[in-house]
Amino acid sequence: MGKTISCSVLLALISCFYLLFATALDTITPSKSIKDPDVIISQNAVFRLGFFRLANSTNRYVGILYNQIPVQTVVWVANRNRPLKDSSGILNISDDGNLVVSNGKAEVLWSSHVNNTAPNATTAQLLDSGNLVLSNGEDGASSLWESFEDPSNAFIETMKISTDVKTGRKVELKSWKSIDDPSDGNFSFGIEPFNIRELVIRNNNQLYFRSGPWNGNIFIGLLYMYTDNLDGFEVFTDKSPYYMTYESSNESMLIYYELDSQGKFVEREWDAGKGDWSKNYPTIQTDCNVYGKCGAFGICDSMKRTICSCLKGFEPRNIEEWSRGNWSSGCFRTTPLQCQRDNNNGSGAGQGDDGFLEMKMMKVPAFPARSSIINGECKDQCMKNCSCMAYAYDSGIGCMMWSGDLIDVQKFSTGGVDLYIRMPSSELDKGKSSKIIVITTVIAGIVVVITISALFLWRRMAKHKGRNKKRKQIKHQFCSENKEENSIGVKLQQLPVINFEELATATNNFNHAKKLGQGGFGPVYRCAGNIR
Ligand SMILES: *[C@@H]1O[C@H](CO)[C@@H](O)[C@H](O)[C@H]1NC(C)=O
Ligand SMILES: *[C@@H]1O[C@H](CO)[C@@H](O)[C@H](O)[C@H]1NC(C)=O
Ligand SMILES: *[C@@H]1O[C@H](CO)[C@@H](O)[C@H](O)[C@H]1NC(C)=O
Ligand SMILES: *[C@@H]1O[C@H](CO)[C@@H](O)[C@H](O)[C@H]1NC(C)=O
Ligand SMILES: *[C@@H]1O[C@H](CO)[C@@H](O)[C@H](O)[C@H]1NC(C)=O
Ligand SMILES: *[C@@H]1O[C@H](CO)[C@@H](O)[C@H](O)[C@H]1NC(C)=O
Ligand SMILES: *[C@@H]1O[C@H](CO)[C@@H](O)[C@H](O)[C@H]1NC(C)=O
Ligand SMILES: *[C@@H]1O[C@H](CO)[C@@H](O)[C@H](O)[C@H]1NC(C)=O
Ligand SMILES: *[C@@H]1O[C@H](CO)[C@@H](O)[C@H](O)[C@H]1NC(C)=O
Repeated sequence: MGKTISCSVLLALISCFYLLFATALDTITPSKSIKDPDVIISQNAVFRLGFFRLANSTNRYVGILYNQIPVQTVVWVANRNRPLKDSSGILNISDDGNLVVSNGKAEVLWSSHVNNTAPNATTAQLLDSGNLVLSNGEDGASSLWESFEDPSNAFIETMKISTDVKTGRKVELKSWKSIDDPSDGNFSFGIEPFNIRELVIRNNNQLYFRSGPWNGNIFIGLLYMYTDNLDGFEVFTDKSPYYMTYESSNESMLIYYELDSQGKFVEREWDAGKGDWSKNYPTIQTDCNVYGKCGAFGICDSMKRTICSCLKGFEPRNIEEWSRGNWSSGCFRTTPLQCQRDNNNGSGAGQGDDGFLEMKMMKVPAFPARSSIINGECKDQCMKNCSCMAYAYDSGIGCMMWSGDLIDVQKFSTGGVDLYIRMPSSELDKGKSSKIIVITTVIAGIVVVITISALFLWRRMAKHKGRNKKRKQIKHQFCSENKEENSIGVKLQQLPVINFEELATATNNFNHAKKLGQGGFGPVYRCAGNIR
């Protein structure tokens, strides 16, 4: 019995070893292709390349997956837009030296699309980084094609998200259509040069999210970077191609990023205890992070019940839309800038100036111009030019200035930078004068309250003195033999205050027999006798 068990264990081990050695090769060559359901596995078995399907779909795909994670985790898909309909798929190196996915009818569903001058010497190797590299050994180290340069929706360690302004080449993430359809979705994630580099997410090519400018240390509009230590992120923005990359400093922590089908950039961290990925959302956390949510000159604050408001001195362009919660038309300036008035009159500068409204902890507006000027002169430089609407200073960037519309301004509760917005001084003074009004109102209010209280106190004291006198009057006013007189009633201000005992005595404990009738405020009783 024992012998058979150890024997079969040994057999299993041997066959396992055999299987491992037969399939653990990490390379595809012109003479070695793979067929569904074969896989190749990277040297240290971190990643595998092969055929798979997604939960609620019968379509089959060729892709790269984490190999040692018990949950199917796809980081790259070859034929994402042209799935295999059955299990007849094959991945090989074609006669022209491309890596191709084809079906049972030898139709090519996906190709690496490169010009290869040495097809016979071509290999495709899956590295432990998760990168699949096509090369023919001709160009030495350089590859013909890499999966890292043709990403799907996942950003894994040592990948580079990049933009080359000279060639126009971009390496960007592209979202899936849905969780079980990897075909091209609406969103992309990349690095955008602008004047100062930023990370952006686009929705159908329209700007959907921006990280704010890179200051050499963090993206100043990415709140996440203020609160979390994004250890291991590297952003290279000195010259083109600009790129962002990531390499964890903690070997035992497994993190990768994904652009999901709703356009959210998701941080996924492996939680061994839970046996699943835990998620974080560094970019789109609130509606305020959606580009231009509040329109031009609007300001978004996710802590407020109504997230959008107009900057001071501005009003909604379209009140009706605005009140319905469609803020995209933004706000307009109610009082023109002093410099604009001066210019229109052709009278040159003078007669009252503009000033700047300080706003703390802000996500700065989109499309800043950059000036290398040092802090003190930022304000002067902006003031000099009437088309300068705002400025901000960051020690890593220097002066940032904005002309035209201010778009995508957000109020943070931590982090951010101080933003200075140009205002006519009259508008800035309004703030002060309205403060004065508030203070005056408060003081006036206090005076009124004190006066009323004093009056009340005085009246009460007077009442206390005249109490005995009043008690005699009570009988006269409330207890009448005459029903008529009672129903006519007394004037309200003449009504005295009487306590319960007095009333109970006077009405013989509210005796039914003494009840005269029912009025609007309750029953009316005839008095039994004198109230004391
Ligand atoms: C698959 O479909 C089932 C039932 O429709 C659903 O509950 C489940 O969430 C789906 N799974 C995925 C990954 O979409
Ligand atoms: C690759 O596979 C396709 C489809 O099965 C086949 O037509 C082609 O000859 C193969 N190429 C090589 C070099 O094996
Ligand atoms: C491959 O070569 C053809 C013809 O020489 C050229 O038109 C094409 O742009 C090249 N493709 C790439 C990816 O270099
Ligand atoms: C590539 O291999 C094919 C068949 O194996 C052969 O006919 C051809 O001459 C080779 N080409 C080169 C450039 O070695
Ligand atoms: C993608 O955009 C199109 C057109 O705007 C829209 O019809 C579709 O629902 C969007 N798909 C997703 C997954 O958001
Ligand atoms: C590395 O990651 C593991 C798992 O998340 C964690 O327990 C450990 O504290 C981390 N070590 C350091 C030095 O951050
Ligand atoms: C919001 O208003 C803009 C401008 O008038 C309009 O184009 C857009 O369709 C509106 N959006 C919604 C959701 O109503
Ligand atoms: C020009 O200046 C005068 C007074 O200085 C002012 O009343 C007028 O509104 C100004 N015109 C414009 C177009 O601002
Ligand atoms: C003022 O700023 C605008 C926009 O930034 C710029 O085009 C213009 O040249 C500037 N004018 C002066 C006098 O600096």
